[in-house]
Amino acid sequence: MPEKRAKANTDVEPSTRILGIETSCDETAAAIVENGRVILSNIVASQSDLHARYGGIFPEVASRKHIEVVHAVVDRALYGAHLGIEDLDCIAVTYGPGLVGSLLVGVNVAKGLALGRKKPLIGINHLEGHVYSLWLTEKESEIEFPLIVLVISGGHTEMYLMEGHLKYRRLGGTLDDAAGEAFDKVGRLLNLPYPGGPPIESAAETGNPVAFKFPRAVMKQGYDFSFSGLKTAVYRETNRYDAGRMPVEDLAASFQAAVVDVLVTKTRRAVDEYKAKAVHLTGGVSANLTLRRAMKKSMDVPVRVPPAELCTDNAAMIAANAHWHYIQGKRDSLDLDVIPSLQL
Ligand code: KG4
Ligand code: ZN
Repeated sequence: MPEKRAKANTDVEPSTRILGIETSCDETAAAIVENGRVILSNIVASQSDLHARYGGIFPEVASRKHIEVVHAVVDRALYGAHLGIEDLDCIAVTYGPGLVGSLLVGVNVAKGLALGRKKPLIGINHLEGHVYSLWLTEKESEIEFPLIVLVISGGHTEMYLMEGHLKYRRLGGTLDDAAGEAFDKVGRLLNLPYPGGPPIESAAETGNPVAFKFPRAVMKQGYDFSFSGLKTAVYRETNRYDAGRMPVEDLAASFQAAVVDVLVTKTRRAVDEYKAKAVHLTGGVSANLTLRRAMKKSMDVPVRVPPAELCTDNAAMIAANAHWHYIQGKRDSLDLDVIPSLQL
């Protein structure tokens, strides 16, 4: 029998314990979070090894793998938190954006649990989940709005002005390839393993960031991003070398420098224009140490980034975000449908 815990003090805000389920891409994840802040368990089963041989995510393979492991992942999250479903306040699940087949797995499991165990269901926007990963590590009392929030992942490069809890103004986003997608595609051009972000970062450590002059598209205007020209420029360079003679480290460092430059320049401008009190970075690419260092160096407001394991896809961020929706009264019906192109 799972051990029961006493509920936390509810004087200030209702105490919640929420199960989050995340299957939007190639991670099957479940987590239990208390009060949107305290992680009681956080299980992530990554499929990236499975997709590595294709050099990218194979959607059909992803959804099948989610089906295979999702129940075990949810059980492990409950077991790790010493809780049963009966101890939870609600079941939260990512319903978009993401791969349709993958999203359906998580949403159907969450619906089954909500229906079978008579628990409320809350659908969560994956992008908003990334935003709330910061609330898992930062003290609420130290966060002041407005904030500039960047969600920089394999599928997105989004910039928001966050004016309060659950209040966003989208300032811009990717016009073509997302930043993480560019890392993954350039990784492939440089014969590095998938996903390309971590090996490019490692290769760049010994490379020269000014060896190649790569383009910084639309850097001077607006808050949209474009990385496909940069990817093409790297492609052109790689074609100039014989196999095995490519200066991988210099290409990686120069590519990474271009991505970092664009992200930092636009963020700096947004902080000034909107008088933001801090910058929050989230999503897989914000695990990149060169980016973190450059952001911190260029801003005169705090730059906050979650630890690497909370930057990449996880379900703790889904449960954290669900807490804020739950206390504001959001409940979804069992008709909740997936929305693969959901925006924030
Ligand atoms: O947030 P995430 O786990 O999944 C999506 O929602 O897409 O982000 C995955 C992306 C991949 O494109 C991966 O190459 C990139 O994040 N990434 C990195 C690093 N670690 C992961 N990019 C640059 N540097 C890293 N250290
Ligand atoms: Zn993500």
